[in-house]
Amino acid sequence: MLQLFNDKNKDITVYVNDGLYPRSEAKISVFDSVVQGGDAVWEGLRVYDGGVFMLDRHLDRLYNSAHALAFNNVPMRDAVKQAVFKTLVSNKMYHDTHVRLTLTRGDKITSGMDPRLNQSGCGLIVLAEWKPPVYDNDHGIKVITSTIRRNSPMCLDSKIHHNNLLNNIQAKIQANFANVDAALMLDIYGFASELHGTNIFTIKDNIVYTPHADACLPGITRGLVIEICKEENIEIIEKNLSLTELYAADLMFCSGTMGELTPVVELDGRIISGGTRHTLLNQIRTKFVNKILEHCEKIPIS
Ligand SMILES: Cc1ncc(COP(=O)(O)O)c(C=O)c1O
Repeated sequence: MLQLFNDKNKDITVYVNDGLYPRSEAKISVFDSVVQGGDAVWEGLRVYDGGVFMLDRHLDRLYNSAHALAFNNVPMRDAVKQAVFKTLVSNKMYHDTHVRLTLTRGDKITSGMDPRLNQSGCGLIVLAEWKPPVYDNDHGIKVITSTIRRNSPMCLDSKIHHNNLLNNIQAKIQANFANVDAALMLDIYGFASELHGTNIFTIKDNIVYTPHADACLPGITRGLVIEICKEENIEIIEKNLSLTELYAADLMFCSGTMGELTPVVELDGRIISGGTRHTLLNQIRTKFVNKILEHCEKIPIS
């Protein structure tokens, strides 16, 4: 699955630090920390006809990530929300939109890793693009297991949603060479953690399983799937999952803002036999769709 350039995004405006700029002029400084060391945190948001989905949960994670990295002079929650809304209104984007929200440690007075070189506060980028869910959720995706491990808290805590994405990018490169859509990443003990950009679930004998969020991002969509299972009295268990358990699953699916809920139909050449129409997955998906409006924060249009 290769995303293509969408002509509708040709003339978008992007929020950078202090205001909106046309796409061609939306730039950050070479002294910005994200350029210097990937020293930034981010969120992917989805806009539905109804508003921005789970905005506060995304902002909670953004602020927790910035706090873990000891960012200073972080913009207030309301200022970040206003920047998101301003960007969406300026682009007239009220549905089928993905927002890449990035908070950097800001500009440095000279190049170097030391955060004391950051003396002018955080940088903020709101990049909104027309982008419906990127995976084919009817037919599902094919996946290989990558040799690149997902970080454990021993190395870099995956609970920080940071811009040091090279592990995941290397895993995606392996998926590209293998001609499949995504890469499964294992933790350092060999248990499944997540795909390179989405969380994973399996269904076996009508029980839903997902890895502990030890070496994966605790996804907002993952959290909602767990909530839905509990509400629907579907048994859900968080546990270490080995590759053998994944191969033997009745169904595997992944979750994320990028693609919503997507069946994984093949893993390392093994067909995951449940197909894309498993009753439990459909029940979870239906509930997910029903919850969208309830969890959307309205975009104020003045
Ligand atoms: C590595 C990784 N895993 C999982 C997810 C899914 O998280 P969410 O459901 O919050 O979009 C993301 C999203 O950015 C991600 O980058």
